[in-house]
Amino acid sequence: MAFNKKTIKDIDVNGKTVLVRTSLNVPIEHGKVMDELRLSSAVPTIDYLRKHGAKLVLMSHHSSEGQSLAPVAPVLAKLLDHNVQFLPDCIGPKVEAAVKNMKLGDVIMLENLRFHKEEEANNPEFAKKLADLGDIYVDDDFTTTHREHASIVGIPKLLPGVAGLQIELEVDTITKAMQNPKRPLLVVVGGAKISTKIDFLNNFLNKAQALFIGGAMANTFLAASGLEVGKSLVEKSGIPTAQKVTLDAKKQGVSLYTPIDVVVTDSVDQASNVETVTVDNVGPDQIIADVGPKSVERVQEVLDKGGTVIWNGPLGIEEKPAFRKASQDLARRIIASSATSIIGGGDTASFIDSEGLHDKFSFVSTGGGASLELMSGKKLPGVEALQDK
Ligand code: 3PG
Repeated sequence: MAFNKKTIKDIDVNGKTVLVRTSLNVPIEHGKVMDELRLSSAVPTIDYLRKHGAKLVLMSHHSSEGQSLAPVAPVLAKLLDHNVQFLPDCIGPKVEAAVKNMKLGDVIMLENLRFHKEEEANNPEFAKKLADLGDIYVDDDFTTTHREHASIVGIPKLLPGVAGLQIELEVDTITKAMQNPKRPLLVVVGGAKISTKIDFLNNFLNKAQALFIGGAMANTFLAASGLEVGKSLVEKSGIPTAQKVTLDAKKQGVSLYTPIDVVVTDSVDQASNVETVTVDNVGPDQIIADVGPKSVERVQEVLDKGGTVIWNGPLGIEEKPAFRKASQDLARRIIASSATSIIGGGDTASFIDSEGLHDKFSFVSTGGGASLELMSGKKLPGVEALQDK
């Protein structure tokens, strides 16, 4: 199913003040933007709107409490090759006056919406104050489409709301890969808890031909099959779920790849006494910190068929160099294959970016929580709030 919401290409923006919810929620350390990826993804929509005679008011949140968006403005201005006027609030008379003075093609960036608690509370009066600043609402922040906040679902109740190009691209690409993938579809899933990924797993049990389980979640599968996992992180309450997924995969004819070997340590922080053992040889004091090389090698038989890979969640504790190897190996194998590759956002995308491999995959999502929800078969409130085609 193609994207069925109106986009900026379906409306006339000439001379209009357009409120753009965009993704300025980027890592900032000591006032410096550390990763520009979301900003470069925001550029096509901003460029399009400017070229078509709009005045742009950019709105965003930052996840870190109290973090100003001020450091983002010069970085975005450089990417746009155009001035971005930063305002130290997102509502109020000064903001209203600045917006009133805008000329065609001008770009204003408002301060972090979450400085007002009404944003996350989805307060209708706050949404109205924001909506009063513009004529049209454009949502181009895929990363927050799973949130029901004032700037995401409140404003489009008051103004015509359409999607930007990044949201269209994200939803379209992920939906097509889920509904009509080049087969076989291999789904790789990592992360700590099966409880946070169960809807995702269930959604793919009748779509995928193969599932590869990694991350601490795999420990729960190993424990569910009666293996000793030492001091590894295990979600005890997830054991029946892991058993059910294993049974369902068998019933549906889905090849389920759980680790056959693992990298263990006696301290994750120190990465001491690191060794690779088969899954039936984990000692009572050992901690599983990564998937082993033989386990990764096993999925090569699926990759060789050149279908589609959807990858959500690193295979090991990727913050530690000693426990990134399985994810690095898998990334290399996917890149070398002819499979179409879709990377879920969040930790997996950060891992891929930190390896400098972003451009080697068919698509890397900008949104962690949002891509997980979409890949779990759920509706995204931020997308639902926009006008139908
Ligand atoms: C993200 O980074 O995943 C989104 O921008 C959402 O941010 P949040 O988790 O702070 O709502």
